[in-house]
Amino acid sequence: MWKEKLMPMTIGVVLHMPFVKTLLSYRTGGTIESKYCYSVWLRHLTMLNTVRSGIPKRVAELGPGDSLGIGFAALLSGCDSFRAFDVIKYWNVERNLKIFEELLVLFKNKAPIPDDKEYPKVQPRLDTYAFPDNILSDEMLKDALSESRLEAIREEIRDPDNPRNTLIKYYVPWDDYKVISPGSVDFLYSQAVLEHVEDLEGTYEAFSKWLENGGIMSHSIDFKCHRTTESWNGHRTYSEFEWKIVKGGRMFLINRQPYSVHQQLHKKHGFSILKELPKIMANNIPRNKFAERFRDLSEEDMTTSEAYMLSVKEG
Ligand SMILES: C[S@@+](CC[C@H](N)C(=O)[O-])C[C@H]1O[C@@H](n2cnc3c(N)ncnc32)[C@H](O)[C@@H]1O
Repeated sequence: MWKEKLMPMTIGVVLHMPFVKTLLSYRTGGTIESKYCYSVWLRHLTMLNTVRSGIPKRVAELGPGDSLGIGFAALLSGCDSFRAFDVIKYWNVERNLKIFEELLVLFKNKAPIPDDKEYPKVQPRLDTYAFPDNILSDEMLKDALSESRLEAIREEIRDPDNPRNTLIKYYVPWDDYKVISPGSVDFLYSQAVLEHVEDLEGTYEAFSKWLENGGIMSHSIDFKCHRTTESWNGHRTYSEFEWKIVKGGRMFLINRQPYSVHQQLHKKHGFSILKELPKIMANNIPRNKFAERFRDLSEEDMTTSEAYMLSVKEG
């Protein structure tokens, strides 16, 4: 077990060195690819449509990462506005424009949703990966993809800091829910983000302020070790001190919080969970090897490796 811990801690120590921090240019993962953005957006939209029909108007995303592509897919589906909240600005205008044009081709061709064969790690899974004609009719697409609208979106992508922008706004870093008006979001989603957020309490509070009553949230959360250890849940064997060393100079790593913390925070901040799709993996580590704070986790928390959660903000 100690040997398994040594490598991640050594990496953490190296990452504490200031010159290493400046040398590293971080990549976050999926949104560097347009097909990933298309797949993730259409999965969240499909899940939303299991409880509320249609296209939401005011959409927000937590933690878009390498591009704003998932939000562009929302705009190409006909959403009125997109707000992005992150702690680091990974994207740039050139990449955003490229992803936007590629997404446009996918929508114009009504391409099927890239499925589990293409993206085996992406949650939520859907029953069918055909283009969702039932949600996005030809008529709706015609309006959403009109040349004047596309040009208006492109203009804002090219000039993201223009205060006159209305379609796309970003808040990076955001640290206060007051950055946007209360009740100004109808649909909020995140993909592989909530396991990284340090201040989960403050973030759920922000969700509750941002969403209007009746607004919907859709989150896909990965509780696994993110390659920090051999076992999928080995990150919970580190003491608080050891984990600080593993985290090193990084602004965030993974918060190690289990599934039930998200269930409780949903409830505490006025959200009713409508759908939960946990993914179960066996725990092969004896309980006494876990750090003290994780030793008494419920069997459900011990074995939930990922979860998709859909919820509504109660009035
Ligand atoms: C693994 S990446 C996922 C990026 C993207 N959602 C995707 O699916 O590829 C995690 C993202 O969460 C962001 N993040 C971490 N803490 C955050 C916070 N407190 N608020 C907003 N975003 C955060 C990171 O900056 C990064 O963009």
